[in-house]
Amino acid sequence: MDFADIIRRRRSVRAYSGRLPDPAVVDQLVDTARRAPTAGYSQGIDFLVVDNAALVANFWSLVSDPDDADERPHTDNPPMVVIVLSDPDRYIARYSDPDKIDFGLDNEEAWPVKFWDVDAGMAAMQLQLAAVNEGIDTWFFGVAHGEDELRQLLSIPDTRKVIGVIALGYRADDEIRVGSATTRARRPLSEQLHRNRW
Ligand SMILES: Cc1cc2nc3c(=O)[nH]c(=O)nc-3n(C[C@H](O)[C@H](O)[C@H](O)COP(=O)(O)O)c2cc1C
Repeated sequence: MDFADIIRRRRSVRAYSGRLPDPAVVDQLVDTARRAPTAGYSQGIDFLVVDNAALVANFWSLVSDPDDADERPHTDNPPMVVIVLSDPDRYIARYSDPDKIDFGLDNEEAWPVKFWDVDAGMAAMQLQLAAVNEGIDTWFFGVAHGEDELRQLLSIPDTRKVIGVIALGYRADDEIRVGSATTRARRPLSEQLHRNRW
């Protein structure tokens, strides 16, 4: 697929058919994602693929907010997810190395921008674009509900931050598009692009 087509086709798909992407292709997507840039080549991003049907069902029941009246119909849930995790300790260790120590970033509080979060976003985007290139639909979202239970279910180490989730699959034929992008206009380029000075 042409790069411009990948960018145009990518959108947050929230209603899926039950068809699972090929696990070998998913492995390739993660391999592509982990090649995204990381600060100091810290490589402190992990990817937890959840494609076991029982675990996926459990995942959705844990992260879905029972009080949310706008909840998507359960049957439309994506058939698998990749949880993107960052490891702040790995960055702090890397920035304690002799070639980085002068940055003064050898403790978490000193980081004005948490590069582990930045890197997780870059990796997540790279995974999504690679997925679209394979004809796979995606949806990135944050875990706003049930994180503690999810950590327990999937044995996620306390040292890792849950940055977000990438749902993967194939859009449902009867998908009804929902989400903020369907109700809000894109800001004009002239408003967001600043050249040479603000
Ligand atoms: C950091 C981040 C968090 C998001 N969290 C949610 C979420 O909790 N629920 C949701 O439905 N979509 C979530 N989204 C998807 C956005 O709503 C979506 O990307 C945006 O509306 C633009 O639409 P598009 O992805 O279709 O272009 C999130 C996206 C990002 C980048």
